[in-house]
Amino acid sequence: MLLRITGNYDEMSELAAGIVAERLRKNPALVLGLATGSTPLGTYRALIRMHREQGLDFSRVTTFNLDEYIGLGATHPQSYHRFMEEHLFQHLNLDRRFTFIADGMAKDVEAHCDWYEEQIRLSGGIDIQILGIGRNGHLAFNEPGSSLGSRTRIKPLSEETRRDNARYFASLEAVPTHAITMGIGTIMEARELILLASGDTKADAVKAAVEGPITAIVPASIMQMHRRAYVIVDQPAAAKLTRTYLG
Ligand code: F6R
Repeated sequence: MLLRITGNYDEMSELAAGIVAERLRKNPALVLGLATGSTPLGTYRALIRMHREQGLDFSRVTTFNLDEYIGLGATHPQSYHRFMEEHLFQHLNLDRRFTFIADGMAKDVEAHCDWYEEQIRLSGGIDIQILGIGRNGHLAFNEPGSSLGSRTRIKPLSEETRRDNARYFASLEAVPTHAITMGIGTIMEARELILLASGDTKADAVKAAVEGPITAIVPASIMQMHRRAYVIVDQPAAAKLTRTYLG
């Protein structure tokens, strides 16, 4: 794991966007894994700025999102489809045939998950995957206890995650109870991982993921097994780490 502790959220975001941009300049047909939530927003803003100001070209990029809520259609305001549209896709020159997000309204969820995995495979695999971390150590919506070898599938959301995400919904009851999520095995096949975390509410999860034992109870701890995993966190999120360098 390569650990970078930045002074603040903006520096974390610039660093992550810089890595993605560098990979994209080398490989214009980059396959980019994306996350939703508040953490990667600064990274997305930085990528949009680089697209506008430096002509960073996304026309040959393929994207795969980590997850989507079951029961929310693509136009639902709280769906991850809408989130990505608003915060990234509409601002870039992506070829929309190649922006993949699982369909929360799929009739046959299992078949849809298999199809999603197949699309990742057909794209040649994810080159670089952006990740956030839940306060409970979840990766995508692989909640504590998820199989470390899991593939894209439907998962129930923990009460803690539903409470955390209720800030985007009218009430806790409105938060879906299930999601389609890439599996931990799927995520681990990406050639590079970038885990982002910001703020003191993530400090325990970051410590457990980076310095704790590898365990399904802290799904993000599996990143210790990845050969090219960046952990980019700001100072408050790094506050409980006892080591400040990991090579
Ligand atoms: C979202 C996702 C989640 C979030 C995590 C942190 O696609 O996969 O694992 O990354 O819940 O969310 P924020 O960034 O809102 O703290």
